[in-house]
Amino acid sequence: MTELKNDRFLRALLKQPVDATPVWMMRQAGRYLPEYRATREKAGSFMDLCKNAELACEVTLQPLERYSLDAAILFSDILTIPDAMGLGLRFAAGEGPVFDKPVRSEADVNNLFVPDPEGELKYVMNAVRTIRKALDGRVPLIGFSGSPWTLATYMVEGSGSKDYAKVKGMMFDRPDLMHKLLDTTAQSVTSYLNAQIAAGAQAVQIFDTWGGTLTPRDYKEFSLRYMQQIVDGLTRENDGRKVPVILFTKGGGQWLEAMADTGCDALGIDWTTDIGEARKRVGDKVALQGNMDPSILYAQPERIREEVATILESYGAGTGHVFNLGHGIHQHVEPEHAGAFINSVHELSAKYHK
Ligand code: CP3
Repeated sequence: MTELKNDRFLRALLKQPVDATPVWMMRQAGRYLPEYRATREKAGSFMDLCKNAELACEVTLQPLERYSLDAAILFSDILTIPDAMGLGLRFAAGEGPVFDKPVRSEADVNNLFVPDPEGELKYVMNAVRTIRKALDGRVPLIGFSGSPWTLATYMVEGSGSKDYAKVKGMMFDRPDLMHKLLDTTAQSVTSYLNAQIAAGAQAVQIFDTWGGTLTPRDYKEFSLRYMQQIVDGLTRENDGRKVPVILFTKGGGQWLEAMADTGCDALGIDWTTDIGEARKRVGDKVALQGNMDPSILYAQPERIREEVATILESYGAGTGHVFNLGHGIHQHVEPEHAGAFINSVHELSAKYHK
C-alpha cells in the first residue's frame, strides 16, 4: 500500500505527537460547494451520486482540492443500510429522506436482515476502493455508518422527525421488538464497517445523531449498548496500521465517560460541551474531535479565526485533538469562510505542539 503523506489525523486520534492540529469538516462534500451541486446535477439524484463510484469519488475529493484538509470522508449516506434491507429509500425534494416501507410491526422487524456488504452494498465498497486509489496516500480516508439508534429513528419514523413519536412509542411499549431491531442493525453496521475497512477505510466514525434525544438510562440501553457491540466487533488494525474508531453522539456531552469506556479511540463532541472540560473528564482514555458551532461559519473570517483560537486554547497543549465542526457544515455557508476556518486551525495550532 502507498505510504500516507499526511497522517496527522490518524496520529492525533491515537494521541501520538503531531506538528499541527488536524482538521476536517463533517459534511465537507456537500451543497455549500458549487462544484458539488454541478456533479449532483450530472448524477441525477443524491442516491444516484452515492451509487456511482466515479462520481462519489469526484465529490469526495472536491473539498480537498479547495482546502488543506487532513482527512477525506467517503461520500455516501448513513441510510444505505436500511435501503439495502429493502425499506425503499428516496430523497424527496425539500423533504429529506423518506422510506416507502417503514418498520412498524413485529412482522416488519422480523423481516429485517443483515445485508451483504459486498452484495447489496457493494457500491459503497466500490466507492471506498476508487477513492483510496485516487487519494494515492494524500490524506487518510474515513469510513462511516449511522448508530443503530439513529438508523432506527429513520427506519421506524419513515422520515426525519421532530418528536420521535413512533420510534419512542416502540421503544417504550415493545422494548423487545426495539432490541431486536437494534441488534440486527448493529450486526449490519459491524459487517458494513469491517467491509469498508477491508476496502481501504483508514478510520471509521459512527454518527449517533439522535442519541441525545434519549434519557440517560435509555441512552445507555438503546444507543450506547449497540455502539459498544459494534466497537467490540470491529477490525482494529489493517494493513499494518491501527484503524481508529470515533463515536459521535450529538447532544451526548453528559455521557462522555461512558462513551470513552466502550474502548473507542475518540469521541466527537458538539459545541454545547467545552472541549477543555471534556478533556479533563476523559483524561488519557480517548482523543476528542470537534467542536466549533457550524453557525460560526456565517460570521466574517476574523470572527471565525477568534473562535478557532478560543477552542484551541481551551483544549490546550499536546496531541489528541482533531478539529472539526460540532455537526455538519450548513448548505448556505460561503466556501471562503470554510477556507478561513481550516487555515486558522493549522496556523494557530502549531504553538500547542512544540
Ligand atoms: O461528511 C461528508 O462529507 C460525507 C457525506 C455524508 C452525507 N451524509 C452526505 C449527504 C455523511 C457522513 C452523511 C451522514 C448522515 N446522513 C447523517 C449523520 C450525520 C448528521 O448530519 O447528523 C444523517 C442523519 C443522514 C441522513 C440524511 N442524509 C439526511 C437527514 C439528509 C437530508 C438533509 C439535508 O440537508 O437535506 C441526507 C442527504 C445528504 N447526505 C446530503 C448529503 C451531501 C444532501 C443531499 C443533496 O445533495 O441534496
